[in-house]
Amino acid sequence: MRAPIVAGNWKMFGSVAMAKNLAEALVAEQFSGDVDVVVCPPFPYITTVANAVQGSTVGLGAQNVYPESEGAYTGEVAPAMLKDCGCSHVIVGHSERRALFAETNEMVGRKVIAALNAGLTPILCVGETAEQRKRDETFKVIDAMIQAVNAQLGGRNWSDLIVAYEPVWAIGTGLTASPEQAQEVHRHIRDLIRSERLDEADAVRILYGGSVKPGNAKDLFGQPDIDGGLIGGASLKADDFAAICHAAVKV
Ligand code: PGA
Repeated sequence: MRAPIVAGNWKMFGSVAMAKNLAEALVAEQFSGDVDVVVCPPFPYITTVANAVQGSTVGLGAQNVYPESEGAYTGEVAPAMLKDCGCSHVIVGHSERRALFAETNEMVGRKVIAALNAGLTPILCVGETAEQRKRDETFKVIDAMIQAVNAQLGGRNWSDLIVAYEPVWAIGTGLTASPEQAQEVHRHIRDLIRSERLDEADAVRILYGGSVKPGNAKDLFGQPDIDGGLIGGASLKADDFAAICHAAVKV
């Protein structure tokens, strides 16, 4: 049985005070062990949030990482630095990074490996644009994203990663994939991993992301291959995010 997980992607929002308040409000929810909860604040607030969630069941992640251990990479952050600051997870290959910062499938693969090597759990984002879906290229696009990681994985396990299916057309738009649409792609991703790494596919947690709200979370999370969510906008409101986390608990 896969433990559900809900991760909050705060993107480039907030302040020190807001990060502290939001993290403290989530700690006060006292989430049971029935759902893994992770928040991913902007880099400058990681230590603030690490202090706020210490000793609680709320986990900490980052939104990006650079695939080198140290060096002259101005403005970048190494995997071990995230670990050092208390992170257990890191989002890799978010569609905003792919689109706005030209991250290729190959670079995303390198980031996944670097994160794994540092003992972080990568949350690997994959998803198609509206145009790609219209051209019936959804599976083709996602397969290339998954295979670029698979090619670099070597002896490592898919089950040490979390995959997040985030259709680009659903991110921040209020347009959510229907539970059936999302399930179809989640099943496809799991089958693809199964075809490469037989024994690991059933253990990989695959999250859905894209305009998840308290009102639609339960139906999405009720699908057999949806193991939780990656939440953007709604993760900035403690009540909404907590409601989404509770909706992920398997009944
Ligand atoms: P959204 O963002 O929930 O605001 O659509 C999801 C994401 O980008 O991870």
